[in-house]
Amino acid sequence: MKDHITTDPLLQPYTLKHLKLKNRVMTTSHEPAYPEDGMPKARYRAYHEERAKGGVALAMTAGSAAVSRDSPPVFNNILAYRDEVVPWIRELTDALHEHGCAAMIQLTHLGRRTNWNKGDWLPSISAGPDREPAHRAFPKMVEDWDIERVIEDYATAAERMQAGGMDGIEIQAYGHLMDQFWSPLSNKLSGPYGADTLENRLRFTTDVLNAVRKRVGPEFIVGIRYTADEVQAGGITAEEGIEISKLLRDTGQVDFLNVIRGRIHTDPAMTDVIPIQGMPSAPHLDFAGEVRRATGMPTFHAAKIQDVATARHAIASGLLDMVGMTRAHMADPHVVRKIEEGREHDIRPCVGANYCLDRIYQGGEALCIHNPATGRELSMPHVIKPAADRRKIVIVGAGPAGLEAARVASARGHEVVVLEAANRAGGQVLLTARTKRRAEMMQIIDWRVAQCEAVGVDLRYNLYAEAGDVLAENPDVVIIATGGMANTTLYESDTPDHVVSAWDILSGDVKPAGSLLIYDEAGDHSGLQAAEIAVAAGCTVEIMTPDRTFAPEVMAMNLVPYMRTLQREEVIFTVTKRLRGVQKVGNRLRAVIGTDYSDTVGQADYDQIVVNYGTMPLDGLYHDLRPASSNGGALDQTAFLDVRPQTTVRNTQGTFQLFRIGDAVSARNTHAAIYDALRLMVAV
Ligand SMILES: Cc1cc2nc3c(=O)[nH]c(=O)nc-3n(C[C@H](O)[C@H](O)[C@H](O)COP(=O)(O)O)c2cc1C
Ligand code: SF4
Repeated sequence: MKDHITTDPLLQPYTLKHLKLKNRVMTTSHEPAYPEDGMPKARYRAYHEERAKGGVALAMTAGSAAVSRDSPPVFNNILAYRDEVVPWIRELTDALHEHGCAAMIQLTHLGRRTNWNKGDWLPSISAGPDREPAHRAFPKMVEDWDIERVIEDYATAAERMQAGGMDGIEIQAYGHLMDQFWSPLSNKLSGPYGADTLENRLRFTTDVLNAVRKRVGPEFIVGIRYTADEVQAGGITAEEGIEISKLLRDTGQVDFLNVIRGRIHTDPAMTDVIPIQGMPSAPHLDFAGEVRRATGMPTFHAAKIQDVATARHAIASGLLDMVGMTRAHMADPHVVRKIEEGREHDIRPCVGANYCLDRIYQGGEALCIHNPATGRELSMPHVIKPAADRRKIVIVGAGPAGLEAARVASARGHEVVVLEAANRAGGQVLLTARTKRRAEMMQIIDWRVAQCEAVGVDLRYNLYAEAGDVLAENPDVVIIATGGMANTTLYESDTPDHVVSAWDILSGDVKPAGSLLIYDEAGDHSGLQAAEIAVAAGCTVEIMTPDRTFAPEVMAMNLVPYMRTLQREEVIFTVTKRLRGVQKVGNRLRAVIGTDYSDTVGQADYDQIVVNYGTMPLDGLYHDLRPASSNGGALDQTAFLDVRPQTTVRNTQGTFQLFRIGDAVSARNTHAAIYDALRLMVAV
């Protein structure tokens, strides 16, 4: 056995009650929204199985699996209230156990953290009348018969999970029905479950624990994930949280504590619980350690412990018994295997982009911004297999798409040359990462460059490739990944004079000054990043969009850091207004402003007008090369989607296949660019 396997704190086994966990790394409960018909079917199983193969010791499956019918899924959660779930759970647990990974599942009643207009259209319930701002349902206040019913539902759901072969369950308390009873902020009941004493606020929890134990017996593992500090005036304090932790321990019914700090009732609150890029690493780790010290209980915790060094510190310094690296495993399912093999440098880093979590609401499924195989295990590989024949591949452009193509092609054993016009790799990510808060995005690039360099990919910079440069390489395959250029043309109109692009601001080519209009028709990060730069330069800023909401592509938790800055700086947000033209008046710019809702036209004056309207493909080289290629640049979409080799021949004289990917095709995003590259190259 290699030395570090016996000495690395992360790789040491842990015994929880009777259960042997092979190391200290777990994935905490996270619903990627992959269930089909509310059941964890093949896609779900494949997702968790990949992480089990990758060596994780414990998978806390599901996220918020629903115990009752009036807890309808908020993001396609597992329906633990159905009997038919048991065989699906059995298949899931068998698959995980096969790889030595323990399997548990999180159960919950969401209370007011859901909505009534889905599932069975039952009213949501809570311990008080306030709606949760994030999910918006006005709940019915629970009655005694609701409480009795839900307690039984928990117990029956726990029994189902036990029957399905789970090693244990985790009861989700924070933000859900359970801590809607706990928190003085949400509990407005009187009587035995009322707000007046801590004992009463916890009574629902102890009733649930008792009922669950009666059904599953003393041996089955039952834990709880809960907030031990709401970090909000009037809520559960850290001191009270420690008291609650001790009370939970003293019930004798709880086998582990999974500590959360904060609330999740609004997007900003949730972002402090689950920090995203640019926010501090592991902000609640020491507090979780305090709970462990105060209770002596097996303690789990996750919150932006992205890297192995921090995870190792969490275990080595006795802060945790099991460390959660959840998004880290979405970015790379093989974290533990790579540690075991002494290949920590090969771990694909989680860059905190939170595309995964934001997408469960806005996209209906979790996807990792730079690992398109995550959640697509049934069609996309995490480990690239060698190709039968070695071919010469020339890739033009070293942005995310080009570098992913190079990484995959080289892993398949091809000879790869990358031609990049700039003096370094990165493409649009270089602009994104200029904002300090988003600097982690560069790891998308740096990891790929390192992977490519390690296998001898020929990366050539400062080379603005023309057709002759490409043809001189005698390629078998040419990939055009040249990206796009910022587009400032207005919708179905012309490019107004005097405007600049959001990229001009991001790159520093144009210094913002005075009063700015940022006209944001793309609704992505660039507009908001430009606004951040402008307010930092002391400008007054108005962001205008023709859409109903601003920045719709940025999504909920990603919006939080922007809003914290932009609101503080009094940025004005104007929705449903369309920029129709720009005139120069003296040394100022006059915006002609219309709307899609009427013929009204108004105007307003600014010092600068910035337009953010995506990119136009940089596709000149692609069109130059088409005539000499065998396929004329055509992509057989069926073969592409089936991950089969491309065989289209439109020109028998052609000497190479030609494809373009990413924004060189049309303006999309980083995930789309990388997914284009992966699914094309695994079949080349
Ligand atoms: C897609 C996704 C869904 C999640 N759903 C849940 C959930 O249903 N219940 C829960 O307790 N935590 C949920 N989480 C939070 C994670 O368990 C974890 O606390 C969080 O991701 C922070 O840990 P990390 O920084 O290691 O990712 C979810 C996280 C993600 C990324
Ligand atoms: S999307 Fe971002 S935060 Fe989520 S797993 Fe991927 S890299 Fe990490």
